[in-house]
Amino acid sequence: MLTTSNRGAIQPFLAMDVMAQANKLEAGGQDVVHMEVGQPGAPAPALVREAAAQALRDGRIGYTDAMGLAPLRERIARYYSDHHGLEVSPSRIAVTTGSSAGFNLAFLALFEAGDRVILPTPGYPAYRNILGALGLSVVEIETHAQDRWCLTPEAIRAAHAREPVKGVLIASPANPSGTIMEPEALKAVIETCEELGIWFISDEIYHGLEYGKKAECALRYSPNAVIINSFSKYYCMTGWRIGWMVLPEKALRSVECLGQSLYISAPMLSQVAAISAFDARDELEAIKAGYAKNRDFLMAELPKIGLGNFMPMDGAFYVYTNVSNLTNDSMDFARRSLAEAKVAITPGADFDVERGGQYVRLSFAGTFEAMEQAIKQLGHWLK
Ligand SMILES: Cc1ncc(COP(=O)(O)O)c(C=O)c1O
Repeated sequence: MLTTSNRGAIQPFLAMDVMAQANKLEAGGQDVVHMEVGQPGAPAPALVREAAAQALRDGRIGYTDAMGLAPLRERIARYYSDHHGLEVSPSRIAVTTGSSAGFNLAFLALFEAGDRVILPTPGYPAYRNILGALGLSVVEIETHAQDRWCLTPEAIRAAHAREPVKGVLIASPANPSGTIMEPEALKAVIETCEELGIWFISDEIYHGLEYGKKAECALRYSPNAVIINSFSKYYCMTGWRIGWMVLPEKALRSVECLGQSLYISAPMLSQVAAISAFDARDELEAIKAGYAKNRDFLMAELPKIGLGNFMPMDGAFYVYTNVSNLTNDSMDFARRSLAEAKVAITPGADFDVERGGQYVRLSFAGTFEAMEQAIKQLGHWLK
């Protein structure tokens, strides 16, 4: 008898399931406000699309070096000096098929099967799923709203003392909460990892999307930090499947060889186009100003309709709100929100298996009109 693997039997990404359901309603002629998936409503910047069009006219789109095109690696290195005042050699940069590929490459290059890796919950579900599929052991550490959902050095030390861990993965700004770690708190976590001989992986995909506080790059505190970043969010390039890593010297050759066999290279067309993304700052800042307006609006309006139990969003484009005043089954709540209010939202179980039933995540990456519509429809539904 043919059987499929247990390690391939990972949890579904509920946000995608909600989106599929919302799309079905729309195909049947109903209007739905989309607050479920984390992707910008805007297209890639004009400069990026022009660069791609030019590359298509010029001709051949082929494989590139597994680590990426040299001009893109150089341009990414310049971003670190321009934006963070950090000198990073282009040789330490690996261009990847979105940050998603970066996780696979990092986990394979740094860890043995069976190694234990700490993830703060709530958190982005793919980390857990990828680690599980690769045969690693996930150590979930609960974080709390009153600590602004931040992982502490004490929690890392305690987990490591119970049974040694090999890695810690953090995103700041975070998904789903949007909170940013204070520089001192980030530094303390990274120094703890260094001291204990634990790899620190920093998912910086929401860098650039900050509303006041600036997110610090983990490289500031350690050259051993493994940085994973992407053009998907701030740069509005989700479908281009392009991202990058900054790696310690030790991991470079391994990531290069893994990349050669797993992906050959990131798509060349996206690589050529991404070089221009860094020059599109005016256009991208205008888009970010739109998210900031949405954020302010939701922070003012959500409490008025009974959805006000959330931490202020420092960055990214999500609100993670506690709905225990309304339900303990956020999956059912999200299902009804879609069916009855025609607003698609994501149940918290995606991000926190234990406590997610009391939370939902709303994305504010859409238009201001969509936010107004969502408040109107949710408000009417919850009355
Ligand atoms: C925290 C976080 N990391 C990584 C990703 C994956 O992004 P991509 O593979 O498009 O770079 C996402 C997508 O939503 C995310 O929220």
